[in-house]
Amino acid sequence: KDMTYSEAIQKASSSITRFPLIPVRGVPLMNHIANNWDSIWAFRPDPSDLLIATYPKAGTTWTQEIVDLLLHNGDAEACKRAPTPVRSPFLEIFSPPPIPSGLDLLEKMDPPRVIKTHLPFQLVPPGFWENKCKAIYVARNAKDNLVSYYYFDLMNQTQPEPGPFDGYIHKFMQGDLSWGSWYDHVKGYWLEREKRNILYLFYEDMKENPRREVERIMRYLDLSVSDEVISQIVELTSFKNMKENPMANYSCVPSPVFDQSISPFMRKGEVGDWKNHFTPEQSKLFDEDYEKQMKDIDIPFRTLI
Ligand code: A3P
Repeated sequence: KDMTYSEAIQKASSSITRFPLIPVRGVPLMNHIANNWDSIWAFRPDPSDLLIATYPKAGTTWTQEIVDLLLHNGDAEACKRAPTPVRSPFLEIFSPPPIPSGLDLLEKMDPPRVIKTHLPFQLVPPGFWENKCKAIYVARNAKDNLVSYYYFDLMNQTQPEPGPFDGYIHKFMQGDLSWGSWYDHVKGYWLEREKRNILYLFYEDMKENPRREVERIMRYLDLSVSDEVISQIVELTSFKNMKENPMANYSCVPSPVFDQSISPFMRKGEVGDWKNHFTPEQSKLFDEDYEKQMKDIDIPFRTLI
């Protein structure tokens, strides 16, 4: 019998550690990813595959769940067939054996597949664009994204230690975190969105009017789902329901990797939580740097303050 995903992680737990980052074309990535870079870069998707791309903690899991439900016409049971990372594999992830890599999981699935990535645009395997795959990008307010990533780095035992919050702010501004610079990430996809037909979404829009954003995703995927099913999908993908859904809340990843007693994967799910973490001085410094890093581009973030 095949080992389950959780069992594989449990088996590998003695080799789980806070893995060092190694730059790939200037972007710091977990050593296991960097060491397997050639096979990731060579990945050939099917034209029917969908890519969901985000900077870590921008709303990936939420979007994956919405898409899976749309593809299954709102069938909640069908979307409980397996945990998120098995239903919708993480393209570039490599971990110690016997944990399956993203590429291992993808190889065993028939297209169309829903593929998650945190790679910045320039590191996405070119096969996606050559095959004209659809792609959804989700961006989140920088300060909220930072706070969410900070808590994630505390609990995810494979990521580098976040250290004190003040130092973490500096690492974020310098792009010195796993998957690199938030600024380069949101800009890279923004600049390519028209040419590559990328649906560019915002976490804050999804919070403000989830129904509108679910319908936007539906249209982008050329699906047609009844109003009733849309309502059902909005309800099933509320923060509260996803937090309680064992197939969406990452309880499949045992504590040697995700120690959810430190911080739950489904932590708060709110807009503006940064205000509970940044001092006025930190906020001022961050805003000044933000202006500099984002001055050449006009991305319509609505919640910068
Ligand atoms: P917080 O840490 O701010 O709570 P990702 O899936 O990209 O790792 O992002 C995780 C972030 O999205 C976490 O943010 C998590 O709580 C939030 N999130 C997950 N599901 C959500 C939902 N259904 N509604 C709102 N936020 C959600």
